[in-house]
Amino acid sequence: MTVTVDEDRYRLLEDLMIDSRLDADSAGRPLAPVPAYLLPAPDQGPIIELPEPAAPRAGLDDVLFGRTAVRDYEPIPITAAELSAVCAAAERMDADSWASERDGGVGLEFYCAAWRVTGVDTGLYRYLPGRDALRRVASLPDGPDAAELVMQSEFAQAAAVLVITGNLAGSLARHGSHGHRLLLSRAGAAAHAAWLAALRLHLGGSVFAGLLPHVLRERAGADGYHRAPLLAFAVAHPAAEPAA
Ligand SMILES: Cc1cc2nc3c(=O)[nH]c(=O)nc-3n(C[C@H](O)[C@H](O)[C@H](O)COP(=O)(O)O)c2cc1C
Repeated sequence: MTVTVDEDRYRLLEDLMIDSRLDADSAGRPLAPVPAYLLPAPDQGPIIELPEPAAPRAGLDDVLFGRTAVRDYEPIPITAAELSAVCAAAERMDADSWASERDGGVGLEFYCAAWRVTGVDTGLYRYLPGRDALRRVASLPDGPDAAELVMQSEFAQAAAVLVITGNLAGSLARHGSHGHRLLLSRAGAAAHAAWLAALRLHLGGSVFAGLLPHVLRERAGADGYHRAPLLAFAVAHPAAEPAA
């Protein structure tokens, strides 16, 4: 029988595998399962279809000069169509401005922590661009416990928080250290597009960077490198100004 070089190599590989299995057996340690936060991001959750983005209720010129960071919110829900408009604005900004980056494999992802959105259960979702839908990725604490998700508890009182993540590993491979700056600029543009869309719906909020990395690592597989949290936007009905 003729043994080809390829078969030879295959046998060598098999022998090596047997050796390494023996190594693992003889080490005799009980093998712990890999912790959930080191597993690939969950991508099996149910899909929730969102309505079409709500149409703007005000012109940009009418609301732009009133834009200010708002951290006090009414505890009332926003609609799913309003959330849809906020997510779509962020996604559109990135798609229109950095198409070549996305074609090159460096996308942004948009996660949505929803607490008070009509028709959307409390939870963490990934926005599915192009189909106005959310995929549920994890549960979220509600009520006073929601504050454990963010550095500033006031942002957990928002109706929803849009969290923007990016592929830092991919961007660095493409651009060197400039890749990090580029991702931050993209996240800034997307978050502010979301903010302007919210203003035009007479909603308010603030961009913020005070995210707790472990929350997204554990719940969305955001390892900080292949999926790095970049910036967030809290959206809600602003609290009424106290009477003077
Ligand atoms: C990149 C970036 C990160 C921010 N991070 C936070 C934050 O972690 N917490 C916060 O309260 N505000 C944060 N902000 C919001 C600013 O604090 C807010 O825009 C600033 O107070 C200016 O107020 P104005 O937006 O009303 O002009 C951030 C803004 C930017 C641009």
